[in-house]
Amino acid sequence: MPRRAAFLLVLLAAPALAGCAGSPGGAPPSPPASPTGANDGMAGMDGMDGMPAMPGMPGMGGMGGMGNGTMNGMDGMLPHVAPGPRTTLDRSIAGLPDSQPSAEVRLADGATFDLTAGLVAHDPGVGHPLRMLAYNGQVPGPTLRVPQGATITVRFHNALPWDSTVHWHGVRLAATMDGVPGVSQDPVPPGGDFRYQVHVPDEGLFWYHAHVREDLEQGLGLAGLLVVDGPEAQRGEGPREVPLVLTDLFLENGTDIASYFEETVTRTLMGRYGNHYVVQGGAAWESTARPGERVRLLVLDAANARPFRLQVTGAAAVQWVASDSGFLQQPRNVTGQVILAPAERAVIDVVMPARGDVVVYHRPSLSPLGFVALATLRAAGDALADPGAPAGPHERARASLQEVLPHLGDAPRLTWDLDMRMDMLAFGGIAHSHTSPPPEVEWEDIHMAANALSDLDNVQWVIRDNATGREGMDADYHFTRGDLVPILLRNRIDAMHPMDHSFHVHGQRFVVVSTNGVPNPDLAWKDTVLVPTGADVRILVAMTNPGTWVYHCHISEHMAAGMMGQLSVA
Ligand code: C2O
Ligand code: CU
Repeated sequence: MPRRAAFLLVLLAAPALAGCAGSPGGAPPSPPASPTGANDGMAGMDGMDGMPAMPGMPGMGGMGGMGNGTMNGMDGMLPHVAPGPRTTLDRSIAGLPDSQPSAEVRLADGATFDLTAGLVAHDPGVGHPLRMLAYNGQVPGPTLRVPQGATITVRFHNALPWDSTVHWHGVRLAATMDGVPGVSQDPVPPGGDFRYQVHVPDEGLFWYHAHVREDLEQGLGLAGLLVVDGPEAQRGEGPREVPLVLTDLFLENGTDIASYFEETVTRTLMGRYGNHYVVQGGAAWESTARPGERVRLLVLDAANARPFRLQVTGAAAVQWVASDSGFLQQPRNVTGQVILAPAERAVIDVVMPARGDVVVYHRPSLSPLGFVALATLRAAGDALADPGAPAGPHERARASLQEVLPHLGDAPRLTWDLDMRMDMLAFGGIAHSHTSPPPEVEWEDIHMAANALSDLDNVQWVIRDNATGREGMDADYHFTRGDLVPILLRNRIDAMHPMDHSFHVHGQRFVVVSTNGVPNPDLAWKDTVLVPTGADVRILVAMTNPGTWVYHCHISEHMAAGMMGQLSVA
């Protein structure tokens, strides 16, 4: 397989690109020493710290990226379209109600809950309130806690000036309740209502968010956790759980969130990377815990585009216990980092040390913002002798994964190429080529000016069926309930702008079989997976839930720019 111009990213950049070359903050701060040292090589965890990523190298995964025989540099062009009108959306906070603290709500089987999406004045840790969006006035929305097997009714009211819907991310509920406009329901207009019957068959860490203009609605605050408790948690056993919804906002001049436009989605090239981190609605989260106590962190990446690379320092033990839609077969001691792509979740137990604090850092691979502390647990109170932890959830996970084990080696039935097209003229200027591999995990430090110029007209992202050449919503698949479908996701390194994608399937669950041919040692049910730049990721989707469902990249701007398809299960 010839190594083509894989890394020659011919990005035509605006002159202002020069302004992005350096880090505004000067030299990035050096990371604090990790108590545990080296990373382990677990799937979803970084095992190549400090090394350049090597995606798409000849011999890796045996699939070079020739697609259907076309040269991407040629067919990757969009015709030039002059930019259309752009109406800037109001950013004023005049007359808006103040936000409320994000609360937890326990709902029993059969309960009814009112959920209103509206405008709010909220300070996301910048020192003054900004015009944001909230569920029930809260940023993030209330954490809903329901027992496994329950059905709750959520009476949604749309108090936004735009259409909206609520999507119950990862939940295998009825297709008519899935919240995708045009597929599962009509959008809920301003002032409108919709009753969601939310049935939760699986225990795990789910979430809900707006599924209309996610770049705007989810990005400005319409997201919250949905925790489905298994039997132990329902009995109140197990550690104290702490929600940590992570996101970021793109501030201009450090004062307000960069404009959104009514007619188009901008920053479609890389997605709307923020320059201000937000944890549970504020700048940095802090709480206390007893020495020796086990605290369970419920972590969600709710950002539009940013992957988080988490590292915990100071803990007596750090254990990864559950992924998106369920527990691991056994807890895994984490000595390295946990990477979360947009919409992915991780449940991480930390055991407080005999003395001292525990800090959760985000350790970006490439960012002018450097290394940041997202959450701190300060030691307080009497020591606990035994941190404890129930084994039941892991036993159940092991049992429920049995059905897929004999099929992990099945040959892919579908190969989906993640690719893009762009209108080179729209980015007019000097050719800017890359001769080194793209950095792992993040892209925010480079091409920021090009990103700012990108919108729905000049960038198109696609998921293409490699066998048929069909793309997006034209690639319509039909499966039968009970099918186990192996799918190969190929993130084309020869795309004009290769970058990481966060792949999500609605209404079903899957396991990640391998990444670049390396088997995943930590099988768990998932609904979202990071597909790193240039990587081949194999998943095995259990088609269990009838109806028509979408799958898409969870980078909001990529989804808006076409990176979505649909399948049905009968
Ligand atoms: Cu959180 Cu269509 O997804
Ligand atoms: Cu994407």
